[in-house]
Amino acid sequence: MSETSIPKHIAFIMDGNGRWAKGRGLPRAMGHRKGAEVLREVIRAGSRLGVSTMTFYCFSSENWKRPEDEVEGLMNLLRRYLKSDLAEFHSAGIRLKIIGDRAPLPEDIVQLIEQSEEQTADNEKMTVCMAISYGSRQEISSAAQALAIKVRDGVLSPQDITPEKIGEELYTAGIPDPDLLIRTSGETRISNFLLWQLAYSEMVFLDKYWPEFSKEDLWSAVEEYQRRDRRYGVALGTA
Ligand code: FPP
Repeated sequence: MSETSIPKHIAFIMDGNGRWAKGRGLPRAMGHRKGAEVLREVIRAGSRLGVSTMTFYCFSSENWKRPEDEVEGLMNLLRRYLKSDLAEFHSAGIRLKIIGDRAPLPEDIVQLIEQSEEQTADNEKMTVCMAISYGSRQEISSAAQALAIKVRDGVLSPQDITPEKIGEELYTAGIPDPDLLIRTSGETRISNFLLWQLAYSEMVFLDKYWPEFSKEDLWSAVEEYQRRDRRYGVALGTA
């Protein structure tokens, strides 16, 4: 692996917890629990590689439609995760950022999120971005609404609505776009994740479930990324 072209931002769709558990005759909740352990290991491995930002799809806006006990289990996992891992994140110099719609989240989780973000706000080693109650179309619609209000109030002209201005209204404002997206479980979809931000990202789809994902898989995905030729729509040899 080349040390010089490590992707600055890697995004993850952590898919397949349920199938992993089912294949072992375990409840789905066990898959999520194992998934949370893997998440922790991947953050450590990314930090060691020198990745600056890692974004994880933890809970989508569509996941609210899952059975109540599964949603409750995921909320409990998140609660425990934010409590137990905050100290480690903080001492490792990690800044935590949560993206998504907070309105449907339990009040105590919103408070935990605010505390975690506040406590780690000045950390500079790496940013860990957790997408919770997140949906990209909803994120883009909210950005459009925010811009429409500015136009209505006369503080922005319609012709000044540029890609940069839209980016500034997204949850990810100030965070560079992902260089690499990794999705596990063999599915090759984006599933309403970072639709705007992934415009030029390289994508690696892995045929194993998230609970089986290892730091070696992360290294292989980075090597695969380093073999790709990113051209951003510009002709071969000129980028
Ligand atoms: C997709 O697997 C995974 C999720 C919906 C949740 C991802 C959550 C974690 C990895 C745990 C860490 C999360 C927190 C909250 C700290 P799936 O359930 O869709 O699996 P399936 O497609 O096999 O059913």
